[in-house]
Amino acid sequence: MNGIVARARVPASGALRDIQAPVRERLERTVDEMRRIVTDDLPLIRDVSAHLLQMRGKMFRPTLTLLSSAVTGTPDARAVPLAAVVELMHLATLVHDDSVDHSVLRRGLPTVNSLFSHQVSVIMGDFLYSRALIALVAMNDLPIIKIITDVANELSIGEMRQLGAVDALQFSEAEYLELIRAKTASLLAGACESGALCGAPAFRDSLAYYGDRLGMAFQIADDILDYTSDQSVTGKPSGLDLREHKVTLPLIAALPRMTGAARTRVNELFGTENPDPLLVDDVIGIVADTGGIEYARARGEAFAHDAEQALRVLPESPVRVALTDAIAYVMDRRS
Ligand code: IPE
Ligand code: IPE
Ligand code: MG
Ligand code: MG
Repeated sequence: MNGIVARARVPASGALRDIQAPVRERLERTVDEMRRIVTDDLPLIRDVSAHLLQMRGKMFRPTLTLLSSAVTGTPDARAVPLAAVVELMHLATLVHDDSVDHSVLRRGLPTVNSLFSHQVSVIMGDFLYSRALIALVAMNDLPIIKIITDVANELSIGEMRQLGAVDALQFSEAEYLELIRAKTASLLAGACESGALCGAPAFRDSLAYYGDRLGMAFQIADDILDYTSDQSVTGKPSGLDLREHKVTLPLIAALPRMTGAARTRVNELFGTENPDPLLVDDVIGIVADTGGIEYARARGEAFAHDAEQALRVLPESPVRVALTDAIAYVMDRRS
């Protein structure tokens, strides 16, 4: 376990609790539904599932599905199983992502790849995806199936793009935005759009757009947190993107403004297979001092603004307030 001590996750912040309040009971049922969907007799699957389900994560995407389904009143009965499918797809992606990123910590606990093996991660990710798809098909709604299967495909394209985003000097902001749209925003957009089909179909397009813009802001915030936050707060390692030679917006923005000496340090990091933690810290400092974090934050705010605009067409209700608060939550989140 690489010396990592499991710890209880910091409970959902007040802001997240408030956002989830209008759908709290359905969110609890979503967790039960997830457990039901992944239940299997095979001991190894049982052990890995138990490990994965003991730490809930923020449940942000199913929250968006449930809120979207409730913008005009009580949603139909498919909202909860759909929310479970959405969170399971997210979980499958995380299991694969941690294996690809060689990450040892997720939600304050050891990752599947560190606790079991990379082989188990590959197969378990597929298992979670396929069980989620079985539950999705059982809903028997072709438009919803289409949204979610398109998302599954985009997520894999996004993660594949990620593998190519390892050359600091070659990777542009436009390519970065295309990448995060596929690997992150597609799922938030799909979570909202499919949720709308369970209760508020008239708002399908507005909610899809809201989810897309929110998803862009969400990943930019995550990439900033990788530079600025501590693993005791996020429950996952910090500085990992640079260690893995992942080029994200703070670095893309900082590069053109760097001195020659600073660039040399960046090149040194990207030319070293396992960069020294001091070198990683040094480059983090350079990126921050060159305004990379500030730039990324401003870019995130522009997406947040678009998300807010998209909500204007919705009827006023506590659910609309929660969707609006979700934007501020994404911008301020610490984990
Ligand atoms: C992590 O997602 C993956 C990203 C898209 C950045 P979350 O930050 O929603 O992770 P959990 O589900 O709360 O652990
Ligand atoms: C998000 O990117 C990956 C997924 C969409 C699963 P990251 O690699 O930055 O996510 P974290 O930081 O590991 O959660
Ligand atoms: Mg990762
Ligand atoms: Mg990250």
